Amino acid sequence: MKILVLGGAGYIGSHTVYELVDAGNEVVVIDNLETGFKAAVHPKARFYQGDLRDRAFVDSVLDAETGIDAVIHFAANSQVGESMVNPLKYYDNNLCGTKTMLQSAVAHGIDKIVFSSTAATYGEPEKVLIVETDRTNPTNCYGETKLSMEKMFKWVGQAHGLRFVSLRYFNACGAHVSGQIGEAHNPETHLIPIILQVANGTRDHISIFGTDYPTKDGTCVRDYIHVTDLAQAHIRAVDYLMAGNPSDIFNLGNGVGFTVREVIDTVREVTGREIKVVEEGRRAGDPAVLIASSEKAQRVLGWKPEHADLKHIIETAWRWHSTHLHGYGE
Ligand code: UFG
Repeated sequence: MKILVLGGAGYIGSHTVYELVDAGNEVVVIDNLETGFKAAVHPKARFYQGDLRDRAFVDSVLDAETGIDAVIHFAANSQVGESMVNPLKYYDNNLCGTKTMLQSAVAHGIDKIVFSSTAATYGEPEKVLIVETDRTNPTNCYGETKLSMEKMFKWVGQAHGLRFVSLRYFNACGAHVSGQIGEAHNPETHLIPIILQVANGTRDHISIFGTDYPTKDGTCVRDYIHVTDLAQAHIRAVDYLMAGNPSDIFNLGNGVGFTVREVIDTVREVTGREIKVVEEGRRAGDPAVLIASSEKAQRVLGWKPEHADLKHIIETAWRWHSTHLHGYGE
């Protein structure tokens, strides 16, 4: 297959490109490198640097790259905290970028899109295991823009015959087993990379945000899902659309939750390093427990996480963080 990956230089995008290339696909990548890294793009993918809001640029790539079977769309800003202080940046990049890209895709006859969505579309969960039919009520602007993007696909799909799969990820983590690519954000806000930065000596301590949640040890519970498992789900979703199936939405997680303290203890076990902890107050907008039911993705897409063990997940992330102290900067 020939697949166009938007945002293929970012964390989840780059891992998906690796899986696509390894499976023998022809891969074209667009990324504006605002948050992605050229070094993360697989050398066998054809790379175009540019912005999805630039219609002439997107048209020029689609004019040059004929015969694209499907698009996988990761290109978006994804920091929850930033989205609350700068919501218009999120509306501009996430929604305007998607709108312009869709205009070009429709004009070029592209009719299959796999979309990178998020658990943040749900907001505060109604019950422990979140299913796709649960209420969507985002508590941050990032989740709101992702939900709006899903709705844009729905209406554009109805009007123009385009089909999409939206994949709502829970907490993406881990790194490619080779250690060649991994997680790198600037600034880093995610739990596992921050703890690993403490382990590799580039950060002094990990702050635990909230120790008074109604959970077994007072800290938040999350469903940590390996980035390569997410990447594989995108390939399953492309296959699903290629087989002629209708648009749909799927959660992606392991269905198991770990507390912040359990994650810190697992990093201690894997790395053998001291991890200094500072207990702080709650971070605004954090639900106590977020765990996915991925039963639908397993049943309909035939997807199954292969890297579900938290220790293994952290081992892969440590392989990256122990050899890339400054991410792609060295
Ligand atoms: N946490 C800390 N200290 C830190 C960082 C995080 O205690 O320094 C805690 C958070 O409070 C949370 C857990 O660790 O309880 C996980 O936090 P992350 O920032 O790693 O991830 P989130 O669960 O906040 O966010 C993830 C994705 C978002 C997505 C969201 C859905 O990264 O893109 O899930 O709610 F929007």
